[in-house]
Amino acid sequence: MSNVRNNLAVVGLSGSPAASSKSRVLVEYALARAATRGARVELVDLAALPADALLGRGSAPAIAAALDAASRARIVVAGTPVYRATYSGLLKVFFDLLPQDSLLGKIGVPIVTGHDRGHSLAVDHGLRPLFASLGATVVAGGVYGTSAQFQDGKAAPELLKAVDHAVDEALALAGAGIT
Ligand SMILES: Cc1cc2nc3c(=O)[nH]c(=O)nc-3n(C[C@H](O)[C@H](O)[C@H](O)COP(=O)(O)O)c2cc1C
Repeated sequence: MSNVRNNLAVVGLSGSPAASSKSRVLVEYALARAATRGARVELVDLAALPADALLGRGSAPAIAAALDAASRARIVVAGTPVYRATYSGLLKVFFDLLPQDSLLGKIGVPIVTGHDRGHSLAVDHGLRPLFASLGATVVAGGVYGTSAQFQDGKAAPELLKAVDHAVDEALALAGAGIT
């Protein structure tokens, strides 16, 4: 597999408040995949950010750094659990802080985990329009994983394969200059 030519930046946003998170496992795997292809990767764990500033009550250096990481990245991987049939509030409040059009020219990779397949449309009806609202182009193959696809915190091979596909698609779009 060829390496990404221009050492592009990929940021992974983990939108789960859980200490042990299935969606974060997939975001970390996506970043590792991108790194093996030559990308510079960074994980932003939204649960570790100061809550007041995340809610727009004042500012904090950690929030500014996270927003900066998202604005500098060419590819934004967003991972979230399904909460009440859509993305987490944690992911939403972070997206609310991103300036209008700040993801223009970037590629979005949605990664969602839910209890079962009942809310798999959270990828296409939740995360896809969320990305698009800020101008991102979203890969065709978003990722959805269920609880049954995790054993002892590890994701099933077919789920990792879906992440591989999504990351490779994002890298291909970025490499071709398509946004
Ligand atoms: C507050 C809350 C709401 C949830 N709502 C849903 C839901 O609507 N549909 C669903 O399939 N799973 C739902 N779940 C289950 C989580 O989406 C699922 O366990 C997910 O894999 C957790 O991801 P995480 O480990 O990254 O936090 C909910 C869990 C919590 C805590």
